[in-house]
Amino acid sequence: MFANHPRLFITTICIAATVIIACNKTDDTVNPTTDPVAEVLNLPTPTFNYANIIQPAYLTAPNIVAQINTPAGNPITNDGATLGRVLFYDKNLSINNTISCASCHNQANSFSDPATLSVGFNGGFTGRNSMSLIDAKYYPNGRFFWDQRAATLENQVLIPVQDMVEMGMTLPQLETKLRGLAYYPVLFNRAFGDNNITSNRIALALSQFIRSIVSFQSKYDAGRQTFPAVPAPPPNAPFPNFTVQENRGKEIFLNPANACAACHGSETFTAPQERNNGLDMVTTDRGFGAVTSNVGNDGLFKVTTLRNVELTAPYMHDGRFATLEQVVEHYSSGVRNHPNLSPQLRLPNGQPRLLNLSVQDKAALVAFLKTLTDLTVLTDTKYSNPFK
Ligand code: HEC
Ligand code: HEC
Repeated sequence: MFANHPRLFITTICIAATVIIACNKTDDTVNPTTDPVAEVLNLPTPTFNYANIIQPAYLTAPNIVAQINTPAGNPITNDGATLGRVLFYDKNLSINNTISCASCHNQANSFSDPATLSVGFNGGFTGRNSMSLIDAKYYPNGRFFWDQRAATLENQVLIPVQDMVEMGMTLPQLETKLRGLAYYPVLFNRAFGDNNITSNRIALALSQFIRSIVSFQSKYDAGRQTFPAVPAPPPNAPFPNFTVQENRGKEIFLNPANACAACHGSETFTAPQERNNGLDMVTTDRGFGAVTSNVGNDGLFKVTTLRNVELTAPYMHDGRFATLEQVVEHYSSGVRNHPNLSPQLRLPNGQPRLLNLSVQDKAALVAFLKTLTDLTVLTDTKYSNPFK
């Protein structure tokens, strides 16, 4: 019979071979040539370490640990963050397979976007400037986006997927699509113990990956480690590895009279909650006010970390400043008396506090901000694109 039907013969052999391969494939590591993960992804065995990153003692002190917004139900695991890394770099998360999270959160730019507004799957523009994702786990009120409209990171990560400018998917579409990609059942199984693919698990894994991105190897950190973890050294204690100019900038930044650290407090350089830093006299973007429907919150925005700020230009929620020099000029001479201007930027008489810095001191403050640059995070493979 087969002799008369060579095509049928070959087809039968192929089906038999497929069945044998499929039956043998109880463990995805058995046969590397048919491993659906190894076919498309470069993932190490054992996994990278995301769960137990060893940080310097001043970053594990109780006041810093208190800033962490990880919920009890979603601790970082190595397999969970690995899945999150794959999802983060997968263009299949967008409707036309053109955009991944990394398209607008580029590792080389500290997981932000050098464009003022980012471009989505269909050529449309986002409403605000993309945000750096470094140290996202350190923001004690736990809210995400410039206007803090996401109450948790787990809520936030599915919003860009469904955004009609950014990725253009529905959650049922997303789940169906990922179930059809051979590497995901394996990765979900490793992360969650079975291969059920749900949007809730997608959110948990993406959040684990983002919270694993922490910075502690900047020039600032090298200097800080020459002092005891607690108490923090006084603002004017020079760091031995700093130039005279950087030490001057550090003193200006940390000096309570200049208020930078009152909002961007060390060692994570963020605040407990939203603030208004006097960008405008009248509200142009309601920010948190639109979320709470309370005019008392108009113009309040998330205080993002300043770690790696050298690499996250342009600056502010609307990307209005192209350089750190322009940012420093704002605090030196440009703070506006918005009705909700935060008290840290007001004088006792209620007027905006302008630092009126000299040319040298402005340059010193910029030089200090650049000591927060941590190149290791920007090149570390565990945070990079795993696709072949
Ligand atoms: C088309 C560009 C674009 C894409 C794609 C995109 N983002 Fe964003 N992301 C932004 C912009 C712009 C903001 C700030 C928006 C705002 O605050 O209104 C942002 C904000 C965020 C924040 C808030 C950070 C903070 O500190 O509050 C997180 C987290 C984030 N994105 C994660 C992701 C993840 C995860 C994905 C993929 C599922 C993703 N983004 C896809 C542009 C993008
Ligand atoms: C009242 C609190 C407050 C004080 C004090 C303050 N900032 Fe800010 N800072 C903010 C807020 C809020 C934002 C984000 C504002 C926005 O985008 O609308 C911000 C943004 C920034 C950014 C841009 C971050 C980015 O990723 O776009 C830099 C840089 C910065 N501040 C540096 C400083 C320096 C330097 C000082 C001291 C001279 C200082 N800040 C004092 C609240 C403050």
